[in-house]
Amino acid sequence: MVSASENVVGSGEVGGGSRRLYCDNAATSFPKPAEVLQAMVHYATEIGASAGRGGYAEAQASAAVLKTCRERLNTLFNGENPQHFIFALNCTDALNLAIKGILQPGDHAVTTWMDHNSVLRPYNALASEGGISYTHVAVDPVTCVVDPTEIRKAIRPNTKLIAVVHGSNVTGTVQPIREIGKIAREAGIPFLVDAAQTAGHVPIDVQADCVDLLAFPGHKGLMGPLGTGALYIRPGLEGTLRPLRHGGTGSVSEQDVQPEFMPDKFEAGSHNGIGLAGLSAGVEWILKRTVASLWQHDQMLCKAFMSGVEGVEGLQYFGPQGIRNRMGVFSVRVRGMEPGKLAEVLENEFGILTRAGLHCAPLAHTHLGTVGSGGTTRLSFGPFLNVPDIEYVANALSAVALREFAAA
Ligand SMILES: Cc1ncc(COP(=O)(O)O)c(C=O)c1O
Repeated sequence: MVSASENVVGSGEVGGGSRRLYCDNAATSFPKPAEVLQAMVHYATEIGASAGRGGYAEAQASAAVLKTCRERLNTLFNGENPQHFIFALNCTDALNLAIKGILQPGDHAVTTWMDHNSVLRPYNALASEGGISYTHVAVDPVTCVVDPTEIRKAIRPNTKLIAVVHGSNVTGTVQPIREIGKIAREAGIPFLVDAAQTAGHVPIDVQADCVDLLAFPGHKGLMGPLGTGALYIRPGLEGTLRPLRHGGTGSVSEQDVQPEFMPDKFEAGSHNGIGLAGLSAGVEWILKRTVASLWQHDQMLCKAFMSGVEGVEGLQYFGPQGIRNRMGVFSVRVRGMEPGKLAEVLENEFGILTRAGLHCAPLAHTHLGTVGSGGTTRLSFGPFLNVPDIEYVANALSAVALREFAAA
């Protein structure tokens, strides 16, 4: 998928010459494609101006960067209209706009046990401040897949939002969003998908998947820089969504109320032009390779990992134990070892960078039974990792587990 020379972290040397293998792509992707960095440098050195804030050539060039970025996102997710992609700071920001923009006091909302704090906390904040109620739908004990019929059963007459995390940032479980989307559409309830882990990794078609609101970061699978993200709002739904921020848009300045048209209704204040130039280049990088082939690459890495750790005494990974409903996010435990200690050993002895803890998903860890014992150690893959890298990771984990087993 990606040539070895592109894999500057996986096979490269950093610092004092020791190997650094970045396996924390669920937090943010690294490295970024060279094209992303070039686009950001070009923006910073040749454009500089703020989009929509002037008629001179540089301000127009900045507006063109944003326009192209929206068009590419619209192509990537098969949206109906590029103007319906609202730029945000990150996926959390996009989720907040969707959740707080839709829900009103007295409403009921649905989510799952696998959802992230960026859904759970806005729900809880609204529950305590504004009096909404919500239901967490249970998931399969092993695979952590939600049964769409359980979502249907959770719907009440006052249900106004169904939010589901597409790919779990804890177990790598991929939820059946198309089936859930059909249920939500039949019931006339807006369906919000948290695509923090799947955007750019797993194919998403907002029209075929019946997604009304798609929240995603620009800085993970879309290969853009930190500080970028977006919310797709299905045409027709923008009228029922309240903006969270009000302010200047560079448009209809004679008017002291927020414009009603897209995307200005939801985009107050100056844009992150440099970041969006990088995001646009990241999306172009993905479109050239296609999500289908990046997805195939991810599945290949998953298979290499699962076969590399199969049958190793004292080593366990959570979520789907095969390729079905899974992506390249693995939570592991080594018997008798604190997850934080395992992360430390992986970094210090093998140069493998992981994230230990609860990964901002306390209910998912409650479900797995890992909440009171430090969570898990998470490894998350990206397009710049290759099969030999994953074999190296699996060998390192196996060696640590066998060493612990022998010492026990
Ligand atoms: C499932 C999930 N949802 C939401 C988020 C929040 O994304 P961001 O860091 O872009 O705010 C994350 C971040 O890791 C995540 O894994």
